[in-house]
Amino acid sequence: MTTAIRDDLELEIEDLRKEKNAIVLAHYYQHADIQDIADFVGDSLALSRKAATCEQDVIVFCGVRFMAETAKILNPSRTVVLPDYEASCSLVDGCPPAVFQAWREKHPDHVVVTYINSSLELKSMSDYCCTSSNAVQIIEAIPADKKIIFAPDKNLGAYLAKVTGREMLLWQGSCMVHEIFSEKHLVQLKEQHQDALVLAHPECEETILALADFVGSTAGILKFARESEHTKFLIGTEARMIHAMEKEAPGKEFIPIPTSTGCACNECPHMMRNNMEKLRDCLRDLTPAIEIEESLRLRALLPIEAMFKVCDGDVPTSGD
Ligand code: 13P
Ligand code: SF4
Repeated sequence: MTTAIRDDLELEIEDLRKEKNAIVLAHYYQHADIQDIADFVGDSLALSRKAATCEQDVIVFCGVRFMAETAKILNPSRTVVLPDYEASCSLVDGCPPAVFQAWREKHPDHVVVTYINSSLELKSMSDYCCTSSNAVQIIEAIPADKKIIFAPDKNLGAYLAKVTGREMLLWQGSCMVHEIFSEKHLVQLKEQHQDALVLAHPECEETILALADFVGSTAGILKFARESEHTKFLIGTEARMIHAMEKEAPGKEFIPIPTSTGCACNECPHMMRNNMEKLRDCLRDLTPAIEIEESLRLRALLPIEAMFKVCDGDVPTSGD
């Protein structure tokens, strides 16, 4: 796309944002131009808080559908649109609600903790939600005598079981991006860059996490890189994250960990569905919009409220 067309598109988005009284929220895995034009860029937890408290009429959620749904659950009087409604997540797709319900019914004495990367229906069957930022805190808040089901990410679940020492029944879902980093290539990279630290998202497999110097959410990884005295990092999360890291920690070096093909281009195909044209279109047409049947919204809200009460002591709201 030529610079002139891009500039026109940015101006169009700017005008529409004012005309519609909209806020543009973006996840760190969005294309660089979307991150650069957004009013706020964050991880799942920060984006949920921002969506819950924002006062604009329209929330444009540049991320994947479960993130936009969470925004609508928390701030239902706003119009919540997303550039591409088909932007799903392999964790959502890998946990069909009816199959989960049958499994859950076999373990009625278990507390259900659900990663926010889940469907509305799965949330509605859960006691707590969590994000990768607060998952350890949520698990630790559950009394030690309670048994726990964790869904849908088996890798995050195994990491939580290890860190907290709690036994958990794990739904066997995984992130199609984080599960394909190559241990062999990471070992080679560590050899080549002995001064680098490895930063990894807890959705990675255990073999990758075992080689990491820091494990955390996208915002946690960013904070670590910003504050660290080290200047070189091997990155075990979605490749677009490096744009945010280079902006927030200029002068430092970020090297993506390759997949088994050797390609250091591990992007989330769902996140990549969004682009500037679709962002402009959804802002102009206010579609596709998230609509949630009210009784389902209220049931899905409960575990999200329970999460915020544990991690913030209160539930964020826009106050109206
Ligand atoms: P964060 O909450 O760490 O931003 O993670 C969201 C996600 O989808 C990771 O793949
Ligand atoms: Fe889902 Fe993985 Fe994409 Fe995150 S990176 S949205 S967990 S498929």
